[in-house]
Amino acid sequence: MNGQTKGSKRFARLAQRPINKDTFIQEWPEVGLIAMDSASDPKPSLKIVDGVIEEMDGKARADFDMIDHFIARHAVDLERSAEAMATPSKELARMLVDIHVPRQEIVQLISGCTPAKVVEVVNHLTVLEMMMALAKMRIRRTPANQAHVTNRKEHPALMAADAAEASLRGFAEIETTVKVARMAPLSAMAILIGSQAGRGGVLTQCAVEEALNLRLAIKGLTTYSETLSVYGTDPAFIDGDDTPWSKAFLASAYASRGIKIRFTSGTGSEVLMGHAQGKSMLYLETRCLMVVKGAGSQGVQNGSISCVALPESLPGGVRAILAENLIATLLGLEVASGNDALASHSDIRKSAKLMLQFIPGTDLVTSGYSAVPREDNLFGGGNFDAEDLDDWNVIQRDMSIDGGIHPVREDDVLRVRERAARAVQAVFQELGFPTITEAEVGAATYAHAGTDMPNRDQVADLAAAERFLQGQQTILEVIQALDAHGYGDIAERVLEMQRQRIIGDYLQPSAIFDDDFRVLSAINDPNDYQGPGTGYRPAGKRWQAIQDLPQAVNPREMVGEAPTPIALRLQSIGPAAQGVDMEVVVALGPAFGEEITTTIGGLSHSDVLREVMAGIAEEGVSARLVRVLATSDCAFIGHEGAKLSGSGVAIGIQSKGTTVIHQRDLEPLNNLELFPQAPALSLDSYRQIGRNAARYAKGKATTPVSVPVDNTVRLRLIVKATLMHLRETKRVVLGALPLELQVTWHEEPL
Ligand code: 5AD
Ligand code: CA
Repeated sequence: MNGQTKGSKRFARLAQRPINKDTFIQEWPEVGLIAMDSASDPKPSLKIVDGVIEEMDGKARADFDMIDHFIARHAVDLERSAEAMATPSKELARMLVDIHVPRQEIVQLISGCTPAKVVEVVNHLTVLEMMMALAKMRIRRTPANQAHVTNRKEHPALMAADAAEASLRGFAEIETTVKVARMAPLSAMAILIGSQAGRGGVLTQCAVEEALNLRLAIKGLTTYSETLSVYGTDPAFIDGDDTPWSKAFLASAYASRGIKIRFTSGTGSEVLMGHAQGKSMLYLETRCLMVVKGAGSQGVQNGSISCVALPESLPGGVRAILAENLIATLLGLEVASGNDALASHSDIRKSAKLMLQFIPGTDLVTSGYSAVPREDNLFGGGNFDAEDLDDWNVIQRDMSIDGGIHPVREDDVLRVRERAARAVQAVFQELGFPTITEAEVGAATYAHAGTDMPNRDQVADLAAAERFLQGQQTILEVIQALDAHGYGDIAERVLEMQRQRIIGDYLQPSAIFDDDFRVLSAINDPNDYQGPGTGYRPAGKRWQAIQDLPQAVNPREMVGEAPTPIALRLQSIGPAAQGVDMEVVVALGPAFGEEITTTIGGLSHSDVLREVMAGIAEEGVSARLVRVLATSDCAFIGHEGAKLSGSGVAIGIQSKGTTVIHQRDLEPLNNLELFPQAPALSLDSYRQIGRNAARYAKGKATTPVSVPVDNTVRLRLIVKATLMHLRETKRVVLGALPLELQVTWHEEPL
């Protein structure tokens, strides 16, 4: 936090690391700056008299606040509570990680628990145990992901293009928001059209104030909403001008119009508002989650969401965030598990945190992956951005985990981006909105960010947005416009989304659509994880899609590459003779100068050989060339040469350039000098190697060749080294004797 150190260069360096731009504080429980387990968190209790809760978590009914009343009436299943509350919390915790206890059994028991009881259960779990529990308790079997699509300029063509790309990449839901509220109808329309241009069935929303949000939904511009925030203390709720009942009512209003709803909550909001009442963040969040359940919502986006940097400033904060995701699932709620807002300056810390949800899988692993560059993210900065998409794809492939997206090809992306931008252009034209020019379509297709877009007349766009919102037009006119301009396929998908609103199957818990508009929900795709061999794992076509990185190459093709021509011919003239005179033998690997003609560092074999021989000659020693066929191992190639050498000294060179100076009397795996990192060797190094070998042959004092160290060599080139070595090893003839070589140099490569 502060950059001041006392002179240690190590500490000064550490102070500059991204992690130390993050803020860390100690606990202050009295105000609620504590992630879990505050001393003033209540202990679980439940007293029921005549079917009415008279005491809950140590508080008598007479002392209940509004949230207590709501939870007591709507979120505790009294039929289950006797058994649930009587089961020791540690036993419940153990059931969570016990693969033999099915999810449904736990959901039923938890439904009889009070908030403090639920908290007591998860307090027993380590993050590893929570992850195991999450893998089992997540309600939908197939994991998915949500995207954020916004841009600084609120440019509709770019919005549509970015939504199209996000949906092509596999996001199941796309969310936008606005800088200027009045822009909402156009932005909602743009991501709806764009999303369906990428792939049918992606759900979209535009997060704005509730009245406007609901109007967008009624117009058919959105299909889900997760703007319904709840809080864990009365004053925090009242600050937002709400009660649990008003939220429940609003939720029903959305659902009655065929809009999938999801509440929003998350650790930290109450203390941020100054109303934590000394309770831990997790306890208050558990109250939120029970309100969400009591309000009849199918799910929640939680995991601290916009408050994430607050729990992360505290000890155990990231564990608390995982705990709140887990609790949502224990209550049978779909969970869109955060990882959306920028949570750290450190990529290491962000990735480590992500793994807690990514590895077990959740219904929506992020509740908003910024599918646009951070500069364009109007949600206050994404934790993972467009620039991180390849990292995400690689991590999925590394772990065989489905994080809800898959790699795509640039051609396909450009195609859907352009189509989406053109479709919006057509709709704007047909509905009499301000023109989207060809230049704007082109820019949207190829743009990285909003800065690549021409500016628009925002006043005119806002006026059009306002006219659409106030007027009689709905999504049906948009569909007609799409159809009239040759976008019948997109029109059909947008229409299908409207039909689905009426069918309503996607209001079931945790519903998303697959590519064919089939609902996948906790009803028809329930998570059945119960240990090894069960549950979801990417297989078949899905696993193929996840592993299909465009940057992954076919190693067979790499091995099969024709050698590049070099200005050197090596001709064998019979079995290699046993030398007797002063000489240095240069022993070459089986493929040297033939199957392989350049080193791993890109040096031509003719140049390498010329330098080695020139180095030997500089010391007045003669060189003799042999080819070793019986082995491709550098040490043994060198040792074979040494045994043949009149001086007892030889240079062994593998085709990939790895080189050794060897001596007859040494063990094969011992040597005079070894150069294991061929890419670090320059032509000058090879000349020095020649010179040194000659000096050893003459028995002169010799300074070892110094080679620069590059710690990334192995990382960068291990695959290439393996493939080159495979190629060389294929040429090995077991038991074959070394051959004497005659070298001819040419002016030009042959
Ligand atoms: N608790 C409650 N609501 C939250 N939001 C973001 N984080 C939290 C939280 N921790 C709200 C935003 C917005 C909605 C999308 O989610 O304020 O209203
Ligand atoms: Ca979201």
